[in-house]
Amino acid sequence: MSEIQVSEILERYPADRTSSLAVLEDIQAEYKYLPRAALEATAERLRMPLSEVYQIATFFKAFSLTPKGDYIVKVCLGTSCHVGGGPRILDAVERKVGVKAGNTTPDNKFSLEAVRCVGACAQGPVMLVNDQVYPKMSSVMAGELIDRLAAGEASLGAEEAGGGR
Ligand code: FES
Repeated sequence: MSEIQVSEILERYPADRTSSLAVLEDIQAEYKYLPRAALEATAERLRMPLSEVYQIATFFKAFSLTPKGDYIVKVCLGTSCHVGGGPRILDAVERKVGVKAGNTTPDNKFSLEAVRCVGACAQGPVMLVNDQVYPKMSSVMAGELIDRLAAGEASLGAEEAGGGR
């Protein structure tokens, strides 16, 4: 997918502060983060102080001020998943991608996050890749999934969510 210009996003909405959230959501969706230049352009177009745009950008967890990888991998460490082996899964993924949770690989392929309960306890332990839930994971399965993603072999379709091994 080619990145569209920030100006194209800005033109979709009325040029006032009521558009700020929608604009930032679209920029986040397009770039997977909010580049500084995009925040500056947003502030200018919507006639808002840059500091206010930053406040919005940092208030909502869905926004990121740093670039994210192609695959955003989240390992659940909520109570149920923790008991089921979440920490071992996170450890395996960290070793496999070579960065700790909270970081992105230098090639921008993977961003790794440790998250709290994602509401899929009955399927735990779970991990998510770009919000696709992978149920009943083990450290071995997680490592294999990362390998397939790295090799471009795994699609993020429903067939990947079967799990159960
Ligand atoms: S604890 Fe992991 S989904 Fe609830």
